[in-house]
Amino acid sequence: MKATAHAPANIAFIKYWGKADEALRLPLNASISMNLSEMYTVTTVEFIPDLAHDEVRLLDGDFSKQEIERVIKSLNVVRNKANVKYFSRVATQNTFPKGAGAAASASGFAALTVAAFAALEVKLTEKELAVFARMGSGSACRSIPDGLVEWVDGQTSDDSYAYSLYPPSYWDLRDLLVVVDSGMKKVSTTEGMKAARTSPMLSARLAALPARIAYLKEAMKRKNFQQLGEIIEEECLDMHRVMQTQTPPLFYWNDTTKKIMDAVGGWRKDGIPVYFTIDAGPNVHLICEGKDEEKVMKVLQSRIWLCQKIIVNKPSDGAHLVSTHLF
Ligand code: DP6
Repeated sequence: MKATAHAPANIAFIKYWGKADEALRLPLNASISMNLSEMYTVTTVEFIPDLAHDEVRLLDGDFSKQEIERVIKSLNVVRNKANVKYFSRVATQNTFPKGAGAAASASGFAALTVAAFAALEVKLTEKELAVFARMGSGSACRSIPDGLVEWVDGQTSDDSYAYSLYPPSYWDLRDLLVVVDSGMKKVSTTEGMKAARTSPMLSARLAALPARIAYLKEAMKRKNFQQLGEIIEEECLDMHRVMQTQTPPLFYWNDTTKKIMDAVGGWRKDGIPVYFTIDAGPNVHLICEGKDEEKVMKVLQSRIWLCQKIIVNKPSDGAHLVSTHLF
């Protein structure tokens, strides 16, 4: 009754910001992302008949009380589905700083979902796993399938799932995550997006998204990197405009974030095809093709004082079981 899963974080090219249903985590819009090879969570879950309560441990740091409650909520959903009452021992490990806009909740809830169902020997389809991962954290559903992934918004829980648009080998893309601050973000995404509807920019954003999504899919189909990059930046700025015009406004960027965003345009003028995107934190994801990775690293290194660390990611598989357990 023990299983261990590996799940990647993902970077959204089309972002999820705002829920149509808080409890079920149904999004206001569909989103598209890439799974990240070097940023992942490994989680072991064991259901033990004589345990008095769930024991949840983060091996490389501490979980807050709230975070533990959220994990237990997901375990309850799994127990309910499997019709099992046992408590569980859970250990989890991340390869990257939690809470720094690097979506540890995505990899975390994807790994937890896959490990917990496997520990109870409940066999689910990828679609069903994505639906259960989504209930833990919306973006976690995109960490279940492989490679480049779309999360369909859906009207009901069962039809708000994620599927693979392309496998990791389809396009040799890179996400260079420039970590400028690895501390916890001040406002969590769950809290932050509750106020999305207070932004006067939200309705224009929702109206623009279907065309933007179609344009991004077309760029992916044709492997047109410039088109992909332009949409990614436009979309990032659009989501942050909504965040910044909510009540109360949310500013996730810091001065270094803005310096990097500003520099990226200059690097493009110098002939390096690279684009930025930023989630709910100050860290900047630089998206380029594999052939340009070295050039991007070189210009970044000339400004190394701007960043604490650079994590170079390729597209990766989604969540899967592994045979080495954490305990
Ligand atoms: C800005 O999936 O963390 O990274 O469903 O409340 O857990 P909850 O939110 P979460 O939100 C991610 C928001 C984002 C954009 C994105 O990844 O699409």
